[in-house]
Amino acid sequence: MNIREVLRLAPVMPVLTIHEVGLAAPLARALVRGGLRVLEITLRTDCALEAIDAIRAAIPEAIVGAGTLTRPQDFPVAATAGAQFGVTPGLTPELAAAARTARLPLLPGILTPSELIVARAAGFDACKLFPARAAGGLELLSALAGPFPDHVFCPTGGITARNAAEFLALPNVPCVGGSWVAPQSAVDARDWRRIEELARQAAALRSASLGPVPGGAEHLAVPAR
Ligand code: 3PG
Repeated sequence: MNIREVLRLAPVMPVLTIHEVGLAAPLARALVRGGLRVLEITLRTDCALEAIDAIRAAIPEAIVGAGTLTRPQDFPVAATAGAQFGVTPGLTPELAAAARTARLPLLPGILTPSELIVARAAGFDACKLFPARAAGGLELLSALAGPFPDHVFCPTGGITARNAAEFLALPNVPCVGGSWVAPQSAVDARDWRRIEELARQAAALRSASLGPVPGGAEHLAVPAR
């Protein structure tokens, strides 16, 4: 599966920063049960790699990405932990090469037309736009569709339940990324039902660029425990 196909699996990619490895599987299970099966685990905590491994072992339906990859050495360790794709906040030639060497499909972050041209020259046809809202949000994405009509984006950074639908209404946005579906307060409270419900609401959003999503929530049968 390439990154474009991964972005079509669900309209929202939860961005998860996991502080306790024991919470990784129940959190992922709640999200997948709600219909969000593509997850980004940020490498910002000591247990992030273990969390990726735990989710892959417990929830085979999940498609698990490693995020916040900012150094070439992050790629082999993410791949070894079981990450199925990588996400970077920006792109350098070294990061693109490290992704290739680790055979990790990459969703690279870009922010400007020049960065997008570099990413396209490196072979990428789908990018994260980060930080999406701070950088111009809807207007920026609409403007980029002019010179780059075939490129798709996963805007991340400042996307919430209130504005996600506006982003998904753009023809170049099959998926948005965000942390709102797994609020830290709900994770701390082990309130998996709340997270499942937030995921269900997010999964009900539909990108205007897509028809019905194959492999959506209705096809998932994930045990509660
Ligand atoms: C991040 O890197 O933390 C993501 O962009 C998530 O941003 P958000 O918390 O604004 O959704």
